[in-house]
Amino acid sequence: MKPVHLCALLPPEAETYFKQLLSWLHARYVQTFNGNHWRATLPFSSEALLQVNWLCEKLREQVHGFSLYASWGVPAPDFPFAPFPFNLHVETGIFGTGKHPTTQMCLTALQHLPLKGKWVLDIGTGSGILAAAALSQGAKVVATEISFTAAKQAHKNLSVYESSSWAVIVCDLASGLRGTFDVVVCNISSEALLCLLPDLDRILPVGKLVASGWMASEWRTVRKFLNSHGLRLSSWQFLNGWMAVVADR
Ligand SMILES: C[S@@+](CC[C@H](N)C(=O)[O-])C[C@H]1O[C@@H](n2cnc3c(N)ncnc32)[C@H](O)[C@@H]1O
Repeated sequence: MKPVHLCALLPPEAETYFKQLLSWLHARYVQTFNGNHWRATLPFSSEALLQVNWLCEKLREQVHGFSLYASWGVPAPDFPFAPFPFNLHVETGIFGTGKHPTTQMCLTALQHLPLKGKWVLDIGTGSGILAAAALSQGAKVVATEISFTAAKQAHKNLSVYESSSWAVIVCDLASGLRGTFDVVVCNISSEALLCLLPDLDRILPVGKLVASGWMASEWRTVRKFLNSHGLRLSSWQFLNGWMAVVADR
């Protein structure tokens, strides 16, 4: 079974407490760099993500100014993440600067997928950041957005890419879309994801779902719904209480 990779940035005074928490979780290969940067491996279990969330909550009780990232099924990235390498204009009130944990984990998940020539649907595109990432990897993209203002912003940001490779549509989730996609990416709330799942059966008969936008404490509910729609988990990520998954069918 693939192990769980854990990375943390912690103030030096948290060392003893963090080591204690890691030993309770049977962490292995614990390494520290520059006194504040940690890496470790946790044994895989179906509840590993909830254990990482427990670790994060324990740290919150006693430590200020830390960052905790974990992943399973994704090669451990450089942490903290490098800034998004494209020039996006993001007006106040529009989501998608690339700084939010959920966006960062979706970007990491997309980087590890072969997207060249694939059809990608980005639901709730905001500034267009995930659509831009998929386009830069050679995909063709349809992006949906419920807010007209955000859709206009995404349209502007995507206009640097070949116009025949993308479209931005104002609609509710995937309603009204015809055809099928190879990859669906959505950074939306768990409630919105649950509303989307019945439509996914139609638009993603075979392919990958990259999803984020909810807290790790909601994982049991989200996992149940993914399973009930025939989606099999292939990776997950955790960053400071938020989570992202890639699921296949
Ligand atoms: C968390 S933001 C994600 C933005 C961007 N994709 C990112 O990852 O940074 C969620 C976006 O989904 C949009 N949204 C919310 N509900 C929606 C719905 N029912 N249909 C389409 N878009 C929706 C919001 O307006 C917002 O721009």
